[in-house]
Amino acid sequence: MRHYKQHFKDKTVFCNCDDPFESNFFKYFAINFNHLGLKKLICTCYAGSPVSYTEFNDLPLFHKDEKLPYKIEITEVPDLNGDGATDLSDIELLLKSSNNNLTILDGDGDFRSEESVEFLKESDIVVTNPPFSLFREYIMQLVKYDKKFLIIGNPNALHYKEVFPLVKENKIWVGHKSMSADMLFNVSEEFGKWLVNNKRQGSGYRIIDGEIKGRAQAIWFTNLDIEKRHENLILYKHYNPIDYPKFDNFDAININKVTDIPCDYDGFMGVPDSFMDSYNPAQFEILGRSGDTEWVFNECTFFTPPPDERISFYKKYNRTWRLQNVYLLDENKLPVIVYSRLFIKRRTNEN
Ligand SMILES: C[S@@+](CC[C@H](N)C(=O)[O-])C[C@H]1O[C@@H](n2cnc3c(N)ncnc32)[C@H](O)[C@@H]1O
Repeated sequence: MRHYKQHFKDKTVFCNCDDPFESNFFKYFAINFNHLGLKKLICTCYAGSPVSYTEFNDLPLFHKDEKLPYKIEITEVPDLNGDGATDLSDIELLLKSSNNNLTILDGDGDFRSEESVEFLKESDIVVTNPPFSLFREYIMQLVKYDKKFLIIGNPNALHYKEVFPLVKENKIWVGHKSMSADMLFNVSEEFGKWLVNNKRQGSGYRIIDGEIKGRAQAIWFTNLDIEKRHENLILYKHYNPIDYPKFDNFDAININKVTDIPCDYDGFMGVPDSFMDSYNPAQFEILGRSGDTEWVFNECTFFTPPPDERISFYKKYNRTWRLQNVYLLDENKLPVIVYSRLFIKRRTNEN
């Protein structure tokens, strides 16, 4: 969050998949409400949220074991002792102010519900970790209502047909955290034990200073401007046809590492997704991605369908062959599929 601080001043932030009791987004914005200069914080809790409401027992709105979706609106965070050090994620304390309120929702708190969309309309920036299974719908809604956002998603979402056009048109980009850096989160002791017994160290979890941290395959998606989008990638390699072979089905050269992008090649280049970390739209243009037939057949000017012998080679070995896979030819002229690629071109008018 700290990399986006400058965007929050005088803004209404909406966390629309967030039970305040379990969401660290709520905590962050409540604790930093005055520091960020927020106008309002709205959080809505989904009916299916697993959190128990026992903490609310003293509040007249809740009864023991009741699981009602609700909304919390914060417009004032009292600085009780003047140093801002009180734990202002203490919801009951926050609700003592008449400028803050908790209300039960009419519906189930689904981010697509009418009332949730009304809160969306009144907000400026949406920040959350939405359910990955609904990511497509989630992001389409944000775009439809022209909202600023900072959300967590699976890296593969870059290739979704709903998301990639936004990437290409510079309407969404990868946030400050490097795509390859771990996204770690605190876990309960019990869940930590489960991770150790059921997942592999390094992929499912990490142990940092003796503490088990959960590890998510996740990146930030945002349309808030960040510095790294304006930094030029320093290119120092020179093009040669041996180190940079062309794909057989795309008139583009293969680049395995972003740092290998040559400084003197003006044509199409197929780069790994990690390129998004170094993407400065003033330096490069993104043209397309592997894995999409629609784009390949309708829009791509540098795609040639693979000849029959390549397809039969794959069929012979029962391998999955998708026409839109990018592939190189090995020394025996046999196709070798290259993992996911984004196609880019250097902008020549950069300076
Ligand atoms: C990955 S969790 C993230 C929770 C919270 N944003 C955080 O980061 O701590 C996704 C949350 O979305 C909620 N959720 C699931 N489906 C939803 C829906 N259709 N509308 C709103 N929230 C939903 C779940 O209850 C869960 O709390």
